[in-house]
Amino acid sequence: MPQARRIGHATFETPDMQREIDHWIEIAGLVLAERDDKRAYLATKVGQLVVELHEGPEARCSGLSFEVSPKIDLSDVARDLEAEGVASALSNDTAPGLPRALVFNDNKGTQVQLFNEWKYLGDHHQVKGVGPMKLGHVAFVTPDVQAVTSFYQRVLGFRISDWIGDYFSFMRCGPDHHTVNFVRGEKTQLAHIAFEAKDMSQILNACDLLGQKNIPITWGPVRHGPGHNVSVYHLSPDGNTIEFYIDLDQMKDEELGYFEPRPWHRDLPQRPKTWANGTSQIWGMRKH
Ligand SMILES: [Fe+2]
Repeated sequence: MPQARRIGHATFETPDMQREIDHWIEIAGLVLAERDDKRAYLATKVGQLVVELHEGPEARCSGLSFEVSPKIDLSDVARDLEAEGVASALSNDTAPGLPRALVFNDNKGTQVQLFNEWKYLGDHHQVKGVGPMKLGHVAFVTPDVQAVTSFYQRVLGFRISDWIGDYFSFMRCGPDHHTVNFVRGEKTQLAHIAFEAKDMSQILNACDLLGQKNIPITWGPVRHGPGHNVSVYHLSPDGNTIEFYIDLDQMKDEELGYFEPRPWHRDLPQRPKTWANGTSQIWGMRKH
């Protein structure tokens, strides 16, 4: 089975393409790399594709892409997936800078694209808005968290970093504590999409920008329990929750099996574990 190594980009359907593009550019600080009548592609200021927008009847996150090893042959992966009962298809030029991808659906209906070759979308850019460094993770609400968590372990090689109770899993595919997370809820939908900021002053600037534009901060600043990231959240016009964060726990050596020690850890060393219910933050206001 393939091992996802890095998240590439997230695809959103939007009923109001221009309004959503404007938010990603003016507030989030992404760059419009390409667009046509029905699609738009947004990159970070360092030139990586991170958000794809499609015109659609309702706002939803419909897809994710992940990078796999350049040594992997995507046709071999297609055969492995078939053995798991997952139908996939190789597709060319699914997005700018992605010449080839293996496309299939995960077991909650989100389209997954695996790629092992990509190109920068332009040189480093000056941006308006916050201007994060990278796409970090995407969190989904879904009814059967155990089944989806197991699919990402089995089919995409993700490891479990933490659970909160039995209803919220955090999964890594590289050093970052989580690249996907799944929380139990009635129907499958985006929980949030998270971008890594450079430092706390960029988080502060994000808060000031949101304040200036009269966009409510829906949660944070807060230091989380699982992952220990400091985060601030707001909504795009379509209602997609966008997180900016710093300080996410790093597991730099899988064999050692603990996260890089940090002063705010209470477990010494901090290893993957199941947190008690309601421990989503170390400090900061509770969400509800
Ligand atoms: Fe998050």
